[in-house]
Amino acid sequence: MSLLNRFFKTKPKPQALTSDLRNEIRRTFNESAADEKHFPSTIDPRIYHVKLIAEHLGDLSNKRVLDAGCGKGRFARVYKDNNPLAQVHAMDLAEAMLHYATADLNRCAGSLTALPYRSDSFDGAYATESLEHAVEIEKAVAELCRVVKPGGRIAIIDKNVEHWGKLDTPVWERWFNREEMESMLGKHCRQVRSMPVSYWEDVEPDGMFLAWLAER
Ligand SMILES: C[S@@+](CC[C@H](N)C(=O)[O-])C[C@H]1O[C@@H](n2cnc3c(N)ncnc32)[C@H](O)[C@@H]1O
Repeated sequence: MSLLNRFFKTKPKPQALTSDLRNEIRRTFNESAADEKHFPSTIDPRIYHVKLIAEHLGDLSNKRVLDAGCGKGRFARVYKDNNPLAQVHAMDLAEAMLHYATADLNRCAGSLTALPYRSDSFDGAYATESLEHAVEIEKAVAELCRVVKPGGRIAIIDKNVEHWGKLDTPVWERWFNREEMESMLGKHCRQVRSMPVSYWEDVEPDGMFLAWLAER
């Protein structure tokens, strides 16, 4: 474990997304947008994370789908390319990240904890490695569920808390275990399941990434 990580682990986690903390997170990701190596603007559509979410969302023709905490919109790009008739919405806190998403992705700046959308207005929504930065996780999960219609699909991919310490993480970041995210989703969804996922379908998951698939 690096010194940096040891330092972060000893600090108490922020419990509230205050405006100061939100500004700090936004600034950090705005600065990171130039780092294409660690924050790529494209993703190989064969990667299992992309395929799993697509399979769970189902046919997106003429459907409205939300990428919550989209970053540069790399997942949204694949889904729009594969489903030109879908309305894919890409929402993120950091405007510099959104700048990389093209206009056909219905870009919008906002916070996971107060989504700028009407209730029951999406057929599906997903969040990949963004809820781990939301700080007020229960609120963000409730928001994700609020904007999806009853019967609509929700997918989350994030890191597994059992692997905490393997990467350097900012003070606000949290990882989850299967049960805690299942329980948060279960408050709003009629079906929830979860599984470890790897980048490639034919490679045994190492447990770092978890996927939660829900039906509102
Ligand atoms: C690790 S990146 C993942 C981006 C994208 N989902 C992907 O997989 O490429 C995390 C993203 O979450 C966004 N984020 C962090 N806190 C947020 C918040 N409260 N509301 C919306 N987006 C947030 C960041 O700006 C950043 O773009």
